[in-house]
Amino acid sequence: MNRIVTLDEFIIRRQKDFPFASGELTGLLRDIGVAAKIVNREVNKAGLVSILGVAGQENPSGESVQKLDLYANEKLIDCLKNSGECCGIASEELEDFIPIQPVASKTSKYVVVFDPLDGSSNIDVNVSVGTIFGIYRRVSDPESPCKMEDFLQKGTELVAAGYVLYGTSTLLVYSTGRGVNGFTLDPTIGEFCLSHRDIQIPPRGGHYSVNQGYYLKFDVEMRRYIDHCSDMNLGLRYIGSMVSDIHRILLNGGIFLYPNTRKYPQGKLRLVYECNPLSFIVEQAGGKAITCQLERILDLSAEHLHQRTTIAIGSPGMVDEMKAFVERYSAAPSFR
Ligand code: AHG
Ligand code: MN
Ligand code: MN
Repeated sequence: MNRIVTLDEFIIRRQKDFPFASGELTGLLRDIGVAAKIVNREVNKAGLVSILGVAGQENPSGESVQKLDLYANEKLIDCLKNSGECCGIASEELEDFIPIQPVASKTSKYVVVFDPLDGSSNIDVNVSVGTIFGIYRRVSDPESPCKMEDFLQKGTELVAAGYVLYGTSTLLVYSTGRGVNGFTLDPTIGEFCLSHRDIQIPPRGGHYSVNQGYYLKFDVEMRRYIDHCSDMNLGLRYIGSMVSDIHRILLNGGIFLYPNTRKYPQGKLRLVYECNPLSFIVEQAGGKAITCQLERILDLSAEHLHQRTTIAIGSPGMVDEMKAFVERYSAAPSFR
């Protein structure tokens, strides 16, 4: 039997890769691991403890909030606040960021952005959901509370990012910029154990992932690319929780698209806490992530916390092909 490597052990070993590491980032990743276990426990018994359903309020993006969105949000905030390993938090469920007071006069140099529960409309029907997180080194004066500029850094500045997938098993995948590793929660010992070492995305895959119900609302170049996927006999897979859809693509190859529609002219997904962390992971695994207007996601400037973007993300060969379609069809208006 292979020796088990737990998430904590792995994180501590990796700290040696960073010669001037103070242990803060290590502590932060461990806090997120603990929060993930707590959220996982609640997600698993959601049907039993009247925590399903809508909370009766809207989030800052104007979407209906589920009770579990709020629960996951609170648990992540609690875990990150208590340890003092970060100096500020921004979340999908909070209008503004929250600065965190130093704990035992320990001032932290990191801020964390997260989507506490991704795909939360799936929860009531027992379909996979996730948590997405990104960690930045603060750029504001370390002697004062964190500022908006700390959260609005480009994705290229991420120090670490990851996601948790609450699926048939619970998996935590993260990267600190030196490859991507995945850990499966062993519920019998309550530990995330290394199960997917150095994940590499295949150059191409057999599936594409897009809400094809909106096909007629997409621009012509996206429609032509989607037609091409179908012509190539690619399978369509769309769970409606981007963590789950992108996780499949990370392991098996493929492309995930969320283009602009009439309802969402800038795209639906949020740059800061959804697209940037997942693009960081996918790029670290050898994939690509661009907007449907062909800019690299990680190079985008964020103007505000809940900014939306379009996205095409996945296997490098397929993202390049989608780029070629956009270039060809947007240069030929007569095809519209
Ligand atoms: P969230 O639950 O955090 O608001 O995110 C839902 C997102 C994303 O996970 C998913 O890919 C997308 O919404 C699905 O949107 P459509 O239902 O419009 O396809
Ligand atoms: Mn989400
Ligand atoms: Mn969410």
